[in-house]
Amino acid sequence: MSELDERFRAAALACDDTVVWHARRGPAETMTLLAAAAEELGIDQWDRYGEDGAVGRLETDLAELLGKPAAVFFVSGVMAQQAVLRVWCERRRSWRVALPDLAHQLRHETDGPRLLQRFRFEPLTEGWETATADHLRKIPGVGDLAAAQLELPLREAGCLLPSWEELTAFSAAARELGVPLHADGARLWESQPHFDRPLPEITALFDSVYVSFYKGLRAMAGAAVVCDAGLAAELRAWRQRMGGTLFAMTPYALSALVGLRDELPRVRESVAWAAELAKELVDRGFRLQPDPPHTNTFLLFADGDPDTISERVVAFMEKQRIAPCGRWRPALAPGVAMTEVTIHAAALDKDPATVAGWYAGLVSADAG
Ligand SMILES: Cc1ncc(COP(=O)(O)O)c(C=O)c1O
Repeated sequence: MSELDERFRAAALACDDTVVWHARRGPAETMTLLAAAAEELGIDQWDRYGEDGAVGRLETDLAELLGKPAAVFFVSGVMAQQAVLRVWCERRRSWRVALPDLAHQLRHETDGPRLLQRFRFEPLTEGWETATADHLRKIPGVGDLAAAQLELPLREAGCLLPSWEELTAFSAAARELGVPLHADGARLWESQPHFDRPLPEITALFDSVYVSFYKGLRAMAGAAVVCDAGLAAELRAWRQRMGGTLFAMTPYALSALVGLRDELPRVRESVAWAAELAKELVDRGFRLQPDPPHTNTFLLFADGDPDTISERVVAFMEKQRIAPCGRWRPALAPGVAMTEVTIHAAALDKDPATVAGWYAGLVSADAG
């Protein structure tokens, strides 16, 4: 970590308020909230190896919310998706999985899925592009794939989503070809307003869907897969083989229940607020990916040096005690800086035009 990274982190930690991501909640405050929630939700027994208790409640609630017969809780999404894809591979006697080249497994998992599970990943798309039925059909030997995976939204592309028509056409093509379709729905909650369809209508397009609890829903950590009962039983076996069936998982499951209760109802508002901020930023000459945003997250670009802009953000945070944005980084184009903007409920009491004005001030001396 560079010295500037360290100063940025310290200044952000010292802030009392934030525009991006969630307001900070310390361990003691989090545990107090969870203790109260256990009472409020009537969770008075521990789960044992993921059976019953808060885990059982979460799995039942989630299966109903997402309209699938079963749900399986995992402490991490990385493990959840290795388990799902492993089952599809075993069933199909193929190790070929098609996914976008920007997928989380290929960018952020230190090559674990390939090294541990022997998956052979094949690119569905390259770069900032959403996968269409044509992309799938063009894969050589497509009918022999173990599975295809879409990431909803594609985070590395600025949380990019397909249109509803593109998504339904992709699902229909996968069914016609007999290829199981899996969704990395780490940010499915934040994607739902874009499709403007009930969650079960979205999940019905897939054979398995992974969701995360600690991004939009602000839990401590945790993930789940929704699917049919047969797949769920196999996932439980793989979870145990991978060392993921902890003696007790109640704290994580409880924090996910709190997220579903307290944060999920505010996601639509956060997505709308991000759209307002995006409009104000475009009016001030910023470039966005995607423009307009599809979710509560987008990539923001400005001419200038990322470290110089980040230095100004540090000074802003030290003075105002508000974190307006994250660290700026070099974009792929020379002389251009970028940052990922993610909006949750902490931003909702702020005026998007005022925040866009802050951003313009932070980049102004470098703006072209
Ligand atoms: C798109 C996507 N997939 C999978 C994961 C993995 O989730 P976890 O951190 O729970 O292992 C993440 C985490 O950031 C993600 O963003």
